[in-house]
Amino acid sequence: MATGCRLAIAGATGEVGRALISALEDAELELAEVHALASAASEDETIMYRGRALLVESLDDFDFKRADIVVFAVPETVAHKFVPQARAAACRVIDHSAAFRLQDDVPLLVEGSVIPATDLVACPGALSSLLVPVLTALAPFQLQSVHVTALNPVSMRGRAGTRELAGQTGELLNARGIEPAVFPVQIAFNTLPVVGGQGADALMDELERLLPEAVPVGLAEVVVPVFYGISAALRLETALPLSAAAAEKALAAAGLLSPDSEQDQGVATPVTDASGQDGVYLSAVSALPAPFQGVQLWLVADNVRQGAARHSLYILKKWIKDFKY
Ligand SMILES: NC(=O)c1ccc[n+]([C@@H]2O[C@H](COP(=O)([O-])OP(=O)(O)OC[C@H]3O[C@@H](n4cnc5c(N)ncnc54)[C@H](OP(=O)(O)O)[C@@H]3O)[C@@H](O)[C@H]2O)c1
Repeated sequence: MATGCRLAIAGATGEVGRALISALEDAELELAEVHALASAASEDETIMYRGRALLVESLDDFDFKRADIVVFAVPETVAHKFVPQARAAACRVIDHSAAFRLQDDVPLLVEGSVIPATDLVACPGALSSLLVPVLTALAPFQLQSVHVTALNPVSMRGRAGTRELAGQTGELLNARGIEPAVFPVQIAFNTLPVVGGQGADALMDELERLLPEAVPVGLAEVVVPVFYGISAALRLETALPLSAAAAEKALAAAGLLSPDSEQDQGVATPVTDASGQDGVYLSAVSALPAPFQGVQLWLVADNVRQGAARHSLYILKKWIKDFKY
């Protein structure tokens, strides 16, 4: 007999974990138990959930038999270690890290995906989450290439990133010195290019698993002194003619949102539109100048809410319904 779902959130003290707990509070989802798990350093901290304090437990010591579903929002190496343990204890698992995103036998899912019968699913990174609805909606115009300039908020480096921006801002406003730790140099009042790394390759690999057809994607990334909300300037070339009006129509039909025109004068920003929201906001759509064919546009979305938590909330709801917890 069903007694209600026992949910464990590994990484509950982090940016994605906290966004999921906040999304769970907003959702009409009844859970029998919620376990907040983190590293031993956070043991005995508390996290507020629906008016009560959840005591944080150490992931190292957690008995996965106490949970039916586990959402992992931890670093990749930690997911590699603990996801197999959760599965061995017969838990269903949703992983937000990159640990299993490209593994053939693990489905990569976003909100709205069909969920295959399996006990482990992965969710994509924040930039893929932002791009998928746009590239899917404009695919009928035969995308030839996409160039993305992504402006990454500090929370894409987790809670350590948000702490570093907050700390540096306070110190610098008080004319004190700073010692960068998470970012190589000062991030407060500054911008940093993301040099090297596997950004473009990893993005292409994820998108190949999420889109009906592959499209070449170029990527430039910049870290900006914004706490939450990823922004992206996109330049999309198409084989079929695509006007700005036709692109706006297709994207509105796919659920992309317009910014509040009174507050923002029609310009979508991470802080005034995206922060704490589940949607992707669109503005500044214009046709590419001849001889190019296609459009350029500007997108913003909350990297932890739209980029992560809403996927696991969607999967959780489906599993709870389908498996009658
Ligand atoms: N931030 C984003 O925009 C975003 C978007 C999509 C996906 N993701 C992915 O989601 C995952 C979490 O990201 P995040 O931004 O939430 O990171 P975060 O803020 O740094 O949080 C990491 C969480 O993992 C826990 N943790 C770290 N090491 C651990 C260990 N050895 N044992 C047990 N728990 C440990 C931390 O606990 P303590 O607090 O005790 O250290 C914290 O709860 C990452 O894999 C990331 O790639 C992030």
